[in-house]
Amino acid sequence: MTMTTDTIRIDDRDIPFTPGQTIMDAALAAGIYIPHLCHHPGLPPSGNCRLCMVKIGNRSTAACITTATAGQQIRSDTPELNATRKTITQMLFVEGNHICPSCEKTGNCKLQAMAYHFGMLDDHFPQFYPRRELDASHPDILLDRSRCILCDLCVRASRDVDKKNIFTTAGRGTQAHLIVNTPSGKLVDSPIAKTDLAANICPVGAILIKEKGYEVPIGRRIYDWQTIRETGLQEQVELKNKD
Ligand code: SF4
Ligand code: FES
Repeated sequence: MTMTTDTIRIDDRDIPFTPGQTIMDAALAAGIYIPHLCHHPGLPPSGNCRLCMVKIGNRSTAACITTATAGQQIRSDTPELNATRKTITQMLFVEGNHICPSCEKTGNCKLQAMAYHFGMLDDHFPQFYPRRELDASHPDILLDRSRCILCDLCVRASRDVDKKNIFTTAGRGTQAHLIVNTPSGKLVDSPIAKTDLAANICPVGAILIKEKGYEVPIGRRIYDWQTIRETGLQEQVELKNKD
């Protein structure tokens, strides 16, 4: 008996998928990188950064929230889609205060690495310079909302992995912001610990562990050695090896 495997086609490559798998998960498992910031292997998708937009025929859809279906003809690595992704990256930069040279996360920051990935040489749009609350109340963890890109990763990590439900997002558009679920709204009154996934998953420098600053010198940081494409594929392999 011949076993048949359902496949989808991404940029002229046929790749298998398992029922229920998203296009993003199937692509990463097959070694195809689709740019992403709010997707993290093992966490439920939220579909909010829109960097993973792909085309199925004439329809645009977010690969991280779209279930793979046999026969889908998907385009991802095209000049048009990459130009849109670069614009989204530029918008994320101007919506927050991403002053890379003075940020502890420089070299380990996925937003910065994404900018390199798309050859972003300037912000293009005027800076918003938002004033958002900084929370330094916790002895071990700093929350600087002005760098938050509202990717929702800390929300999902805290809710689904740490089982503490410490963060949530509120508001829309320019009023959107991250909330700490305590009566005071301060991290110090929450049960967050520096070993929590939520404290370590932030792709930018919005959640930082205190007293670790510059432990790894600039020049020896993740994206000094690797591209975001390489780390994106590697994270998927690491999850598979854990299973
Ligand atoms: Fe994402 Fe970090 Fe903002 Fe949490 S604090 S929503 S992980 S950018
Ligand atoms: Fe799909 Fe962010 S990775 S919307």
